[in-house]
Amino acid sequence: AFVVTENCIKCKYTDCVEVCPVDCFYEGPNFLVINPDECIDCALCEPECPAEAIYEEDDVPAGMENFIELNAELSEEWPNITEQKDPFPDAAEWDGKKGKLQYLEK
Ligand code: SF4
Ligand code: F3S
Repeated sequence: AFVVTENCIKCKYTDCVEVCPVDCFYEGPNFLVINPDECIDCALCEPECPAEAIYEEDDVPAGMENFIELNAELSEEWPNITEQKDPFPDAAEWDGKKGKLQYLEK
């Protein structure tokens, strides 16, 4: 499955949800996750993310492996999102910042 990683936090551009053929994105307050059981590995979402936050499970960068479990967990709790919405007004400022996991709201 594909996995949303740290750089989505506080950006949440949501371009990714528009292209997903199986609508398997789920939305939290400041982060999105993919349900790994529903993802069909089509890879369409990966190039759509302006924050380059989406990776195939086997290509998740070192140190971000914990996001594999976070996507699985949180996608069971959060509501489905299928339509793009405006990103946070300060999304560009947060894009690329390190250590955003501490700001993840659940
Ligand atoms: Fe959806 Fe395809 Fe991305 Fe999986 S890889 S989340 S099915 S767009
Ligand atoms: Fe997040 Fe990128 Fe989608 S920032 S909401 S994974 S387009």
